[in-house]
Amino acid sequence: MDLSVQIGSLTLKNPLIAASGCFGYGVEYASVFDISTLGAIATKGLFLSEREGHPPPRIVETPAGMLNAIGLQGIGAGRFVEEKLPELRALGATVIVNVCGTTLDEYVEVSRIISDAEGVGAIELNISCPNIKEGGIQFGCSLAGTFAVVDAVRKVTRLPIIPKLTPNVTDVASFARAAEDAGADAVSLVNTFLAMVIDVETRRPRIANGVGGLSGPAIRPIAVRMVHECHQMVKIPILGMGGIADARDALEFVIAGAAAVQVGTANFVDPFIWPKLLAGITDYLERHQIARVSDLVGSLDTRTGDRAWINS
Ligand SMILES: Cc1cc2nc3c(=O)[nH]c(=O)nc-3n(C[C@H](O)[C@H](O)[C@H](O)COP(=O)(O)O)c2cc1C
Repeated sequence: MDLSVQIGSLTLKNPLIAASGCFGYGVEYASVFDISTLGAIATKGLFLSEREGHPPPRIVETPAGMLNAIGLQGIGAGRFVEEKLPELRALGATVIVNVCGTTLDEYVEVSRIISDAEGVGAIELNISCPNIKEGGIQFGCSLAGTFAVVDAVRKVTRLPIIPKLTPNVTDVASFARAAEDAGADAVSLVNTFLAMVIDVETRRPRIANGVGGLSGPAIRPIAVRMVHECHQMVKIPILGMGGIADARDALEFVIAGAAAVQVGTANFVDPFIWPKLLAGITDYLERHQIARVSDLVGSLDTRTGDRAWINS
C-alpha cells in the first residue's frame, strides 16, 4: 500500500502532518513517540525575532473546540535553525517551517534564512493568523497580498512553498488560485476562524486579546467544504485541516480533495493519536481495495440522482 504524498520536490511518507502551533517545534514530542513516523511536522510560526505573544489567558475551551489567541509567541528563525533544527534532523523528522511576517520583507528574510539551513523540507507561509495586528492575515485576506507574498518568497527559495489560507474570507478558492498563480507548490487550509467567548458574570472576553481563532471539531464541516471548493479550483496539492479527531475525519478531507491532512487541536487532547490515525486510514484503504492513498484524493461522489429519497 502506498501512503506517500508528493508536494513539489518533497515526498511525505504518509499523509499525516502535525499542524503548526499544536506540536511545538516537534522536538518536545520526541519522548512521546517516534516523530519520524509522521508525514511531516509543521513548526510553530517563526518571525525574524523572538516574540512574547499575548498576555494570558490565551486559550479557552468552546463547544467541540477551543479558542486561542497566542499571538504567535516564538523563538525566531535564527534560534530555530541553531537550537531545534539539528535535533529534528537527528531524529529523522520531515520538517515544514511555518513562516510569519509583519511585512513582505520579513516573509522573504525568514524564508531566506530557513532555505539556507539544512534539514527543512518545505515552507508553510502563514498569511492567515487571526491573532496579530500587523501583517499576516492582512496579506491572506487580499488576493493581491496573497500573490505578492508567494511571488516574493518564490524568488528566494527552491523549497516547496505552501501558503496557509485563512477561512475568514467569502471565496477561499480564489485565494488558492492566487497562490497557485504566484508559484505555490501546495496550499494549506484552514487556519482558525475569528471568534469570541464572553464571561457573562464579568462581561469580559474570556481571552485577554478579546477575539481569537476557533479550532477543533466545531469547524470541521466548514473546513471540509472549503477543501472541496479549492480542489475544484486548483491543481496543486491541498493540505487539509480543521477539527480532525479520528481517521474518518481525515478521510473526509482526503475524499474532499486533500492530498494530506494536518491535525492540531486533537493532539492536545490525545498526543498518542498518530498511530491510531494511520491505522484507521490503512484499514480503510485495505477494506476498499485502494492501493494508493493518492487514488482517494478528491474522489467525492457528487451524483445526486440516487439520493432522491432524501427529499421525498
Ligand atoms: C494553540 C494554537 C496555536 C496555533 N498556532 C499556529 C501557528 O503558529 N501558525 C499557523 O499557521 N497556525 C497555527 N494554528 C492553527 C492550526 O495549525 C490549525 O490551522 C487550526 O488549529 C485548525 O486545525 P485543528 O482544528 O486540527 O486544530 C494554531 C492553532 C492553535 C489551536
